Amino acid sequence: MQLDSPLDAAYWSARYAQGQTGWDTGAITPPLLNYFLQMRLPRTARILIPGAGRGYEAEYLHAAGYDHVFVADIAPEALRDLQARVPGFPATHLLEQDFFALPTAPPYDLIVEQTFFCALDPSLRPAYAQQCAALLRPGGTLMGLLFDTEFSPPGPPFGGSRAEYESYFAPYFDFVHFETATNSIKPRQGKELFICLKKRQ
Ligand SMILES: C[S@@+](CC[C@H](N)C(=O)[O-])C[C@H]1O[C@@H](n2cnc3c(N)ncnc32)[C@H](O)[C@@H]1O
Repeated sequence: MQLDSPLDAAYWSARYAQGQTGWDTGAITPPLLNYFLQMRLPRTARILIPGAGRGYEAEYLHAAGYDHVFVADIAPEALRDLQARVPGFPATHLLEQDFFALPTAPPYDLIVEQTFFCALDPSLRPAYAQQCAALLRPGGTLMGLLFDTEFSPPGPPFGGSRAEYESYFAPYFDFVHFETATNSIKPRQGKELFICLKKRQ
């Protein structure tokens, strides 16, 4: 597939500047909230939210006492929005960086995925899985949501299927959950997979 324009910082910045942010739910979504409420990670855990956008998950985790939450996004507008909403969020944890260029040390304990994978050029999917594995400590977790549906071209978003995705993650991760989410927001019901993958030791 040949994309018409690169999905670079200029592209995503323009989407924010023009208010074309249809993916933005305005709040943390139930599958992620439910996971966070049940997870048993120490408050010192290092958590990364790549392609975080306005970062509602980061806002929630910060308020819940997790002090080492990092968000990475190439669009400064998105990071500025989070900073304005949550002035206490550490400025040094707002990483205006390309996910694929993030340093892999020190490692993260948890990576949170929501509508970032589907925003990437699909040719980058194997590299996404590889970079997630590189960023996590052995036994670390990649969790979140992946669309299990197709979208009308042109993307983003770019859809896909469970069978396709499995092949990207299988080289690095054990699959704890990889099934249709039961508590998606209404427009996404039946169309997204809840994933929880553990990086192999
Ligand atoms: C569809 S939006 C999703 C934002 C957020 N996860 C949400 O659910 O609201 C995709 C986000 O990924 C960011 N992004 C795209 N490519 C990126 C890259 N290579 N590295 C870091 N962020 C990137 C965009 O700027 C945008 O904020």
